[in-house]
Amino acid sequence: MKRALITGAASGIGADVAATLTRAGWESVRTDVKSGEDVVALDVTDPDAWARVLSEHGPFDALVNSAGIRERARLLEVTLDQWERTMAVNLTGTFLGMQAFARTLVESGRPGSIVNVASVNAEKPVVGQPHYCASKAGVAMLTRASALELARHQIRVNAIAPGAIHTPMLQDRLDDPGQEEALVKRIPRRRLGLPSEISAGVEYLLSDGADYVTGVVLPIDGGFLLT
Ligand code: NAI
Repeated sequence: MKRALITGAASGIGADVAATLTRAGWESVRTDVKSGEDVVALDVTDPDAWARVLSEHGPFDALVNSAGIRERARLLEVTLDQWERTMAVNLTGTFLGMQAFARTLVESGRPGSIVNVASVNAEKPVVGQPHYCASKAGVAMLTRASALELARHQIRVNAIAPGAIHTPMLQDRLDDPGQEEALVKRIPRRRLGLPSEISAGVEYLLSDGADYVTGVVLPIDGGFLLT
């Protein structure tokens, strides 16, 4: 049975990806900074934690980097702390996981696959989160640059760029009066996305059917990037 490690899997997209992969026949190891029942503690910003989890729970065939944070603040207000926290979790955390996981594969000569969860904001700027947009643009480029280097090791690296997906992360925005209507109006499909629609993309990218797919940042966004 193939084994996948999923980060940020206590909530939202990561939790759904883990359940979807399990249904598809994978053994899913859920990790999160918030450990709990069936969730292994892994703060993605901590290189020692990565080493520990990979050696205690590995080997893995796949890594899904879904851990992420989004704090709303405009450029004129965002603090250095917010900037550094966002970069640490979203970009450095993804880098640390990719590097540690890929090293285990290369050392053992095994093939593998990585899917990062980027965002439409990797490409499309929005008001109120320049630090988040910059971190996700970093994830998208890190995906493509690493795919180029790792292809010769039989390791594929892809990303999903979700649009507005109904998870706890989006909830603070939806709680603002009028925000949901305003958001949905900007999405060609005229609705929010579901975590399961992101998981379907992750499942495909990890599947043998996607063996020739690498370096792709796949939008699953109801057409948002077209606008
Ligand atoms: P969520 O807030 O429901 O889940 C994020 C998870 O990441 C939480 O369980 C949290 O504890 C975990 N996490 C935070 N810091 C961590 C750390 N240092 N180490 C390990 N885990 C940590 O959010 P959601 O929506 O499921 O987000 C998943 C990914 O999807 C994120 O990378 C997010 O940026 C991305 N995304 C989400 C969109 C949305 O509309 N919900 C849109 C585009 C991208």
